[in-house]
Amino acid sequence: MTTQDQYARYILPVVAQGVEPVVVASAKGRTITDTDGKTYLDCFSGISVVNAGHNHPRILAAARAQMEQLVHCCSYVYQVPVVGQLAEKLAEIVPVGHQPALDGARLADAKSFFSCSGAEANEGAMRLAKQHTGRREIVALAYGFHGRTIGTLSITGNSARKKNNGPYLPGVAFGPAPYCYRCPLGLEYPSCEIACAHALRDTIRQQTSGDVAAFVVEPVLGEGGIVTPPAEYLTIAANIMHEHGALVVVDEVQTGFGRTGKMFHVEHTPDANVDILTMAKGIAAGFPLGAFTARAPVCDAMKPGDHLSTFGGNPIACAAALANIAVIQEERLAENAAARGAELLARCKLLQEKHRLIGDVRGSGLMIGLELVRDRKTKEPAADEAKALRAGLREHGVLVGVGGVFANVVRLQPPLSITTAECDQAAEALEDVLGKLSRS
Ligand SMILES: Cc1ncc(COP(=O)(O)O)c(C=O)c1O
Repeated sequence: MTTQDQYARYILPVVAQGVEPVVVASAKGRTITDTDGKTYLDCFSGISVVNAGHNHPRILAAARAQMEQLVHCCSYVYQVPVVGQLAEKLAEIVPVGHQPALDGARLADAKSFFSCSGAEANEGAMRLAKQHTGRREIVALAYGFHGRTIGTLSITGNSARKKNNGPYLPGVAFGPAPYCYRCPLGLEYPSCEIACAHALRDTIRQQTSGDVAAFVVEPVLGEGGIVTPPAEYLTIAANIMHEHGALVVVDEVQTGFGRTGKMFHVEHTPDANVDILTMAKGIAAGFPLGAFTARAPVCDAMKPGDHLSTFGGNPIACAAALANIAVIQEERLAENAAARGAELLARCKLLQEKHRLIGDVRGSGLMIGLELVRDRKTKEPAADEAKALRAGLREHGVLVGVGGVFANVVRLQPPLSITTAECDQAAEALEDVLGKLSRS
């Protein structure tokens, strides 16, 4: 039986029917090789995970060495050196706290909890926020996505992800999406004066009992369609939340670890004064690991036994994460993401001028979205066209993602080590397939 047959017969249809027709044999750097020997330029990184590239030798060596020593003993029952080392590293690099950011000495008072996934990190962060504040409600955003557990779906503002499971948890209010291309308030940046952020006061006033424990927010709404809020958004929103006594939980599961040109996206907005930052995906280059890091006084609200995860802080994943962070720093991958991201974004904007199918191009670093529309005036989402573009690119040997609330956003999220020549290759493939699509 082929792998494709096994997927069709033995894996849940919800997954098997959406899967791409590529059977992956191996991957290295930015290249994925299928079982027929065909190679692809990976512009999706396993959904924004292998930021340092596939199978980076230094990360593999660290994981292998750890595996020879210890695979598991539960890092919350016994103490494991590499887990302590990773927590110390996160205290150094994760920008939580009220000190002025970016001075390198600010973060000694941060503590972490390790989970196995992004959803589990967000669940833990919400528990911590509730325990610290003694409050119960959560404010999140329309178009936001935070995972597929019941708790994280409850704070996800996208019915396509939630369907067939409601009702969800009570005590969740949604603010308007900071989505300039489809502004829910019908305004335009910058004359809007970031009304979507100020509207959060109404969200609290009208939709909650005032008992808000946390505002959970993605700095770029990844699954929502690479929606990039105005630069001022997060700081204004965070100030409003702090005024109301709520903690600010920034979900950097997708934006973290260099993806947007900084180690964490919130470094672009140091005045936002984040209380808890959640992460997963890019933390360990493909080894399953999630985490949240919070200001130490916030963490002290949780007492022994309040929270645990059997596999959380797995030693191999933590060793991989430590090596991954060193690679991102020493190979200056965040800087490369900023530079290559700017080049690729510029190429995509040129394509937008030529191809009416592209309604909007936006991004931050190497997190770029092309929103496809059938009509630039009505902005009718072009979901089938987005799928066709992805398929055409695949034929061309370039793998990309498709996402967005209307499933019409082509996502470019390559490993952060991508070169200018490879960005050109992706842009040329886009040009060619877009040309064919507009002729068909
Ligand atoms: C912003 C964000 N938060 C949380 C998650 C959930 O992460 P996981 O699939 O590891 O549970 C995702 C996954 O796409 C995400 O993009």
